[in-house]
Amino acid sequence: MYYCGAMRKTFTQKLFRWYSLYKRNLPWIGSNDPYKVWLSEVILQQTRVEQGLSYYQKFVKKYPDIQQLANAPHDEVMKMWEGLGYYSRARNMHSTAKQVVEELNSSFPDTYEGLIQLKGIGQYTAHAILSYAYKKPFAVVDGNVLRVMARYFGIREPIDTPKGKTLIQQHADSLLDKKEPDVFNQAMMDFGALICKPRQPDCENCPLQKSCAGYQQELTDILPVKSKKIKRQTRYLHFFVFRAGEKILVEQRIANDIWKNLYQFPVIETSKNVSSKSLMESEDYQAFRIKNPLPVITSPIFKQQLTHQQLICRFYIFDLKSIDKIKRSGVKQVTFTQLKQLAFPGVIRDFLKINDYF
Ligand code: ADE
Repeated sequence: MYYCGAMRKTFTQKLFRWYSLYKRNLPWIGSNDPYKVWLSEVILQQTRVEQGLSYYQKFVKKYPDIQQLANAPHDEVMKMWEGLGYYSRARNMHSTAKQVVEELNSSFPDTYEGLIQLKGIGQYTAHAILSYAYKKPFAVVDGNVLRVMARYFGIREPIDTPKGKTLIQQHADSLLDKKEPDVFNQAMMDFGALICKPRQPDCENCPLQKSCAGYQQELTDILPVKSKKIKRQTRYLHFFVFRAGEKILVEQRIANDIWKNLYQFPVIETSKNVSSKSLMESEDYQAFRIKNPLPVITSPIFKQQLTHQQLICRFYIFDLKSIDKIKRSGVKQVTFTQLKQLAFPGVIRDFLKINDYF
């Protein structure tokens, strides 16, 4: 994809003029500190700006530089991330911080090849760091840019396939302003977020309307095209809240599954909905060896939707004389105060919120 200079110039001039009037005032903009650019991009990978903003500010305040992030205890970093979801981002971020400090003398690589080797840094984040922090000519293609390009050029190729992504990356590379790649990339994102929105794009106020193929051919509602419908698996999680006085049992999730490294109450998972009676008769439950088998309280259902999973959760609360003898590898006793320092998945936080007992 190669455009003649005039076409590129018109696009960029209109985009830049719009951006100078309407750009969002975001704290990471204009920073040439690769650490801050990286941090903001990792937070914003699967998170809306409105939600990510306070997390970015919290992280920068607590860990003003990469050494401080690298030296932080892992549970503390996970707790700071609590509520943002997609926790592998936090795990990779912490491990990359350590690697950059220990092996790269605390400085981020300034080449694509150097950056792409780091955990959690893919093409998108590498391009963002190179253009924002080092002003190198790399076009950033996120969901906003995919949408803007698909509509502007009337691209019907699905954007969630390698072919569609490559095609759009080529268009974006070709339009990129090589003198100000940082401004171009940020302008494209803001434009996608504020004008070329996923639903009801503001075509009436769009400076690119006249040359937009999607608008001219009345395709804005159907573009961009996606090929896949997300399939969701349903999982039933039964959490057992065993407490005695000020003590409660928790365990850390260590398997390569959702919520790795977060904490939870001992859980039994089923693939179907089961009654509490058959749950208590199951081998998994019997293995706890609870003397008094009746739960004091059974919670209502709590649901959490993840991209590929629907979670149906219930909590069974037991007030016991002692929890010392409950058998389960990996469980540990914590006090209610210690409980507050641990990072929990959203559904458990929802449960804790409405239980002022804890
Ligand atoms: N989403 C991902 N990166 C972003 C950025 N730098 N500004 C706004 N939204 C973003």
